[in-house]
Amino acid sequence: MTKKLYIKTYGCQMNEYDSEKMADILHASGGFERIDDPAIADVILFNTCSVREKAQEKVFSDLGRVRPFKQARPDVVIGVGGCVASQEGSNIVARAPYVDLVFGPQTIHRLPAMLASRTQSGVPQIDISFPAIEKFDNLPLPHIEGPAAFVSIMEGCSKYCSFCVVPYTRGEEVSRPFDDIMADIVDLAEQGVKEVTLLGQNVNAWRGRIEGDTADDFAALLEYVAAVDGIARIRYTTSHPREFTQRLIDVYARLDKLVSHVHLPVQSGSDRILAAMKRGYTALEYKSIIRRLRKIRSDVSITADFIVGFPGESAGDFDLTMQLIDAVGFDASFSFLYSPRPGTPAADLVDETPHAVKLERLQRLQMRIDAGARQVSESMVGTTQRVLIDAPSTRNPVELAGRTDNNRVVNFAGDRQLLGEFADVIIESVRSHTLRGYLPTTVQDKGSSH
Ligand code: SAM
Ligand code: F3S
Repeated sequence: MTKKLYIKTYGCQMNEYDSEKMADILHASGGFERIDDPAIADVILFNTCSVREKAQEKVFSDLGRVRPFKQARPDVVIGVGGCVASQEGSNIVARAPYVDLVFGPQTIHRLPAMLASRTQSGVPQIDISFPAIEKFDNLPLPHIEGPAAFVSIMEGCSKYCSFCVVPYTRGEEVSRPFDDIMADIVDLAEQGVKEVTLLGQNVNAWRGRIEGDTADDFAALLEYVAAVDGIARIRYTTSHPREFTQRLIDVYARLDKLVSHVHLPVQSGSDRILAAMKRGYTALEYKSIIRRLRKIRSDVSITADFIVGFPGESAGDFDLTMQLIDAVGFDASFSFLYSPRPGTPAADLVDETPHAVKLERLQRLQMRIDAGARQVSESMVGTTQRVLIDAPSTRNPVELAGRTDNNRVVNFAGDRQLLGEFADVIIESVRSHTLRGYLPTTVQDKGSSH
C-alpha cells in the first residue's frame, strides 16, 4: 500500500520550496504520496518558521493536535523540520517526546536515511547540521506546478540584522553553482515552464564562476537566465538593498523578461532605527535605489517588509517610516510587529514602547500601505496587462485566473485551451484582493476556435 505523507508548511517561500523538496525526496526514496489529512498519514512533517514568536509557538500546539494519531497508530512518524528545528534541536524532543525526527533546512536530503534509522533504532533522530553544499548536490530537480517554477539559487544569510534568526537557523550565505542553476532552468524550459522565480534569502548576494565571463554576480546570472529559450518571465525574491548594485539596476534596461516588480525589504524609514537594526543602508540610499530603478522602468512596482515597534522606536522614528511610504509609493507589502528572538542582539535591547502604541502604529502603517496598494490596482483599470494563466479561477471554475507582472490575480472569461499560456487582458474592475478583466475579442476568438 502506498505510504502517505502529510506536510504542514509555516512561513516563507523558502519553506514552501523546501516542503516540495521533502515530498519529492520521500516520493523518490519510499514512494510516499502527499496528502492533506494528517489523521491518515504515515509520516507527518512540520516545516517550521521561527522568524516571529507566534509562528514558533503554533508548532507546539499543532504537534499536540497530531499526537493522538500516533497514540492510535504507534508506527506513525512525526518530524519537525525548518528553522524552529534548527534553533531548538533536541529541546523539541524534550518538550514533545513523541517527535521522531528533527531536521534543519540544510539536512532535508538526509530524510530517507533518518527515517530508516528511526525505524531500526527506535530512538528519535536529530540532525540540524549545516552541510550546505551537500544539500544542493543531493536535491532532485525543481518541482513544477503549471507554467511556473521556483529555483533556489542561494541559501542562508550573512547579513546578521540585529533582530533576525535566519543567519543562525539557515546558516551563512552559500551560492549554488552557476552550471547547476542553468541546467535546472534549461530543463524546466524544455518541460514547458514559462516563468521562473529565483529564490534565496538574499538573491542579489549570489556569486558564482561563469565560464568565459569575468562577471560573477546576480546581474550576470539574470542575463544568462533571460537568454534561455522558452523562459518568458523572470522573478526573484528576496533581494537586499545593500547589494542592489547599479549593475543590477542596469539589467532592467536590457531584460524585458524581468518583471516590473521588486520586493525590497526596507524595515524602517528612520536612519537611527536602520542602524540599530544593522541593515547597512540609510532611508536616502533606499530611496536612491528606487529612483534609479524607476528612471529605467517607470512602471516598476515596489513591495517591502516593515518592522514596527523595534526597541527604541520613537513616534518621530515611526513618522519617518510613514514619510518613506509616501515618498516611495509602495504596492502591497508585509508589515510585522517586532518580535524579540532569543539569541539575536536586539533581544537584549531595552524596549519601553507600550504594546498598545506599537499596535496602533502597525494599524496606521497597514492602512497606508493598503491604500497605496488599492491605488495601484485602480490605476491598472483600463490598461492591458500580460498575465500568465496558471489555473482556472477559484471563484468560478469556468473562468481563468492569471497573474500580472506585479503579482495580482486577474479573473476573466476565456477558453481552457489558454491554461499555461500568456495572454493580454484588459483590466475592467478592482475586487478586494483580485482584479477582473476580459480578453480582447481577437484572442478570445482564437482561444475558442480550437
Ligand atoms: N532577506 C530578507 C531581507 O532582505 O530583509 C528578510 C527575510 S526575513 C525571513 C522576512 C521578514 O521577516 C523580514 O524582512 C522582516 O521584516 C521580518 N522579520 C524578521 N525577523 C523579525 C522579528 N524578529 N520580528 C518581526 N519581524 C521580523
Ligand atoms: Fe534576516 Fe536581515 Fe538576513 S532580515 S534574512 S538577517 S537580511
